Amino acid sequence: MSDVSLETLVSLCKRRGFIYQGSEVYGGLAGTWDYGPLGVQLKRNVMNLWWQTFVENRVDMYGVDAAILMNKKVWEASGHATGFNDPMVECQQCNARLRQDHIKEDKCPVCGAVGKFSEPRQFNMMFKTNAGPTEDENSLTYLRPETAQGIFTNYKNIIDSFYPDVPFGIAQMGKAFRNEISPRDFVFRSREFEQMETEYFVQESEWEKAFEQWRTDIKKFLDDLGLPADKIHELEVPQNDRAHYSKRTIDFEFDYPHGRDELLGLAYRTDFDLMNIQKASGKSMEYKPKDPSAKPFVPHVIEPSFGVERLVMAVLTAAYTEDEIGGEKRSVLKLPKDLAPVKVAVSPLLKNKPELAAKAQEVYKTLKKEFGNVMYDDNGNIGKRYRRQDEIGTPHCVTIDFQSLEDDTITIRDRDTAEQARVATTSLIQNLEE
Ligand code: GAP
Repeated sequence: MSDVSLETLVSLCKRRGFIYQGSEVYGGLAGTWDYGPLGVQLKRNVMNLWWQTFVENRVDMYGVDAAILMNKKVWEASGHATGFNDPMVECQQCNARLRQDHIKEDKCPVCGAVGKFSEPRQFNMMFKTNAGPTEDENSLTYLRPETAQGIFTNYKNIIDSFYPDVPFGIAQMGKAFRNEISPRDFVFRSREFEQMETEYFVQESEWEKAFEQWRTDIKKFLDDLGLPADKIHELEVPQNDRAHYSKRTIDFEFDYPHGRDELLGLAYRTDFDLMNIQKASGKSMEYKPKDPSAKPFVPHVIEPSFGVERLVMAVLTAAYTEDEIGGEKRSVLKLPKDLAPVKVAVSPLLKNKPELAAKAQEVYKTLKKEFGNVMYDDNGNIGKRYRRQDEIGTPHCVTIDFQSLEDDTITIRDRDTAEQARVATTSLIQNLEE
């Protein structure tokens, strides 16, 4: 279990502008969440780090951004149209519809009735829609429930345009939609969320080696996000719990405020998808090695699949700390500096002194040009501003005081130690970079 409660995390996210309930003004829409200014920046920082790590910094990876709406044949061939189901039961006392595998001790979590459930029926989680003005079978399509299929359908395009050597990977990040029967635990189980997925194409004989390498790479990435190793657990998923396409899956779990639960998955998808596409489209998915004596083959696939919301929630959970500074309690987000939504906050010591404000504005503009995510904060007294910046995880606060006007120095306060150092304004950027 984590040290922070779900209630504390949800309340901080709302109060400080990280995450709001979707459509809140109309009473909300279950399973949807809106990201405020700090949340969207935090999420983007997580996604940028993933893209840098797994696409930009590697020589064997290709990025794509496929359409969310795809030909419905994609979902028929992939098995989602018939097999992407969760077992649903209805409570016969309060009519709540619930996921059968989430029910404990045969008790309805809504009304408390015991043993009052209907027989389970399979509920397909894909959102249906129609492409074009007619609503019939021909125009039927779905909002994608995983980004993976947009990768598989571009496998041939990437080979034809870039001639990669196997092994190589194709990566994509973007929205996915699932009509979850019971969305729950804040953003953990949402109906609209983002995934960051890679399909890594290998020779069949090499799948175990590639699987182990991804296992190592994933752990390094989680470490870069500031997630402590002792809060991450690897679960070897037994055959009967694995997705229909997988021959081996490891779920990486995290100690969330609501308990230990899935963070991301690493799966060996075999040649399941490419073979299905080959069969359904009639187009060859064979890879032709550059060596003319080597036989063409359909590659097998290792798939590391990250959920952005679950990473964001894990990052916030790991960063949330309560401590005492100078005898005063505070809550602080000890985010890794690269993930913090605000890099530096700039404040005049007092709000109603125009000479301090003028100098503070000057410093703010210089830093904004250099670092982008810089906040000007002159709300409330300086103590309150520090508390607020601590709570949103700002690594440094720069304050302009009366001495600044005399000798062109400012103070830099460190979020984690609350210690302040006075430095020359001219060396401020260098100091912050260090
Ligand atoms: N392409 C494989 C795939 O989609 P998955 O285990 O169904 O596998 C991968 O999903 C990841 O997507 C999960 O580990 C989780 O991080 C995220 N995810 C799945 N459903 C989610 C939901 N309803 N809300 C938020 N994240 C979700």
